[in-house]
Amino acid sequence: MNEFDPRALWGITYGIFLVTSAFNGRLNGQIANTVFQVTADPPRIAVALNKENYTHELISNSGVFAVSILCDSTPLKFIGRFGFRSGRDFDKLEGVEHFLNAAGVPCVTENALSVIEARVFDKLDAGTHTVFVAYVIGGKIIKDEKPLTYAEYRERKGKVPKTAPTFRASESE
Ligand SMILES: Cc1cc2nc3c(=O)[nH]c(=O)nc-3n(C[C@H](O)[C@H](O)[C@H](O)COP(=O)(O)O)c2cc1C
Repeated sequence: MNEFDPRALWGITYGIFLVTSAFNGRLNGQIANTVFQVTADPPRIAVALNKENYTHELISNSGVFAVSILCDSTPLKFIGRFGFRSGRDFDKLEGVEHFLNAAGVPCVTENALSVIEARVFDKLDAGTHTVFVAYVIGGKIIKDEKPLTYAEYRERKGKVPKTAPTFRASESE
C-alpha cells in the first residue's frame, strides 16, 4: 500500500441512521452511519453493514429494510440501545415508536425526521461488511427538524464500536 494516514478518511461526512429489518416475524434495528443515496431517478440507496450484525442476517434473508433518519435531538442513550447491543440478546424495538410497513419491516418514527422503505436489488461483499444496494419503495416525513450528523455525534462524545465501518482503532485504547 502507498503511505496511508488513517486520519485522511476522518473528514468524510455522514448522518446517523437507524436501519431496521424483519424476517419470519423477527424484527430488529441497528445504528449505521454508512447510508447514502446512490441515484435520484429511480431513487436508490445503499448501506454498509457488518456481517456479524443481527440486522445483516435479517436483511440477507428478507431483502427488505427501512432507514430512519435520526434528528439532532436524539438522546445518546437511544443510539446506544441500537448501536452497541445486539438484537440477538433482547428486543430492541420494545417500547420504541414504530409502525410495520407492507413488507412487515418495523419503521421507527421515534427521534426520526423521515423513514425510507427499501428493497435490496444487489449486494457487494466488502470483506467484513456487505454493501446492500436497494430500490426506495416508500418514504414518509415524520417531523421537521435538523438531522443528526456523524460529526455532531462525535462532538457530543458519542462512541463508535468496532463493527462500524468508521471505527478508529487508534482511539480504542
Ligand atoms: C455511531 C455509530 C455508527 C455505526 N455505523 C455502523 C455502520 O455503518 N454499519 C454497521 O454495520 N454497523 C454500524 N454501527 C454498529 C452497529 O450499530 C452495532 O454493531 C449494533 O450493535 C448491531 O446490532 P444488531 O446485531 O442488533 O444488528 C454503528 C454504531 C454506532 C454507535
